[in-house]
Amino acid sequence: MKGIILAGGTGTRLLPLTATTSKQLLPVYDRQMIFYPLNTLIKAGIKDILIIVSPDHSGQFLNLLGSIFLQYGVNISFMVQKAPRGLADAFILGEDFLDNDCVAMVLGDNIFEDDFTDAIQSFHSGGRIFALEVPDPERFGVVEFDGEGRVISIEEKPKKPKSHFAIPGMYVFDNRVSSFAKSVCPSDRGEIEITDIHKVYLEKGELDVRKLSGKWFDAGTFDSLLEAGKFVQEKKLGKSFDSIVNKAIEEYNIEVKRLLKAVF
Ligand code: G1P
Repeated sequence: MKGIILAGGTGTRLLPLTATTSKQLLPVYDRQMIFYPLNTLIKAGIKDILIIVSPDHSGQFLNLLGSIFLQYGVNISFMVQKAPRGLADAFILGEDFLDNDCVAMVLGDNIFEDDFTDAIQSFHSGGRIFALEVPDPERFGVVEFDGEGRVISIEEKPKKPKSHFAIPGMYVFDNRVSSFAKSVCPSDRGEIEITDIHKVYLEKGELDVRKLSGKWFDAGTFDSLLEAGKFVQEKKLGKSFDSIVNKAIEEYNIEVKRLLKAVF
C-alpha cells in the first residue's frame, strides 16, 4: 500500500492567507496542516508517500519535508500538479509512483481523529471509502444507504442531499484506480471528480463504505481552520501522533535552531 497526499490547489477560499503560502502549509495549532494527513498515513503503517503540490509552493514543501523522515524509513516523493484538474487526477499523476500497488489517498486539508490502521491493513482489493454524519452534507460528496446499510447512491455536492452522510477525503483503492481515473469524463466544473471513481467501484459491486465516529475537519475555510486548531489544542491531538512524525518535527526544530546559532 502506498500513500498519496493531494496538497495542490489554489486555496482561494482562504485568501489572503494563501497568497503567500500553500493552504496545506498554514498552521493548525502547533504544526503545519500537512503533518495531519502525513500522520494519518504514517500511523496506518504506510512508508511510501507521494505529496502532490502546486508549482508556486513546491520549494516550501521540500524545505520542510524533504529529508525529515528519511532516517525513519519513510520515503516522501513530490510531484508538481501544474493546474488543479480534480481530485481523481492524483491517480493519473501518481500512476508510475503506484506501480502495481494499492493506494490510500488523503486530502491535504483533511484532519481526522479516527485511526485508519485497520481499514488500510485489512484492505485487499476494490475500493474502500468512509462516511460520517454532518449537518451540512451539501458541501461534500454524499452517500445514501438503504435500511440494511447498503449503498444506494453517491452524489458530489448535491443541492438536495439524500442523506447526512458525507464522504471525507480519505480513499483506499486497488491499482485499477489509475485506469478508471483516465476513463472518467470531467464534470461541468471541468474536474475529474473523485465521486465518479466511487461510482465505478460501486457499479462493479466492489465499493466498501465504513462509517467513522471521530471528529473530521475539511480545513479549507476560515471557520473550519480555526475550529480544527481549537480541537487539536483541546484534545492534544499532536500527542497522539505517530512517534515517527513527532520525532521528525522535534529534530527539524533542533536542526533549525542549530543553524540559526551558527549564523548569529
Ligand atoms: C472534495 C470532494 C468531496 C469530499 C470532500 C472532502 O471536495 O470532491 O467529495 O467530500 O473533498 O473534504 P472539495 O472540498 O475539494 O470541494
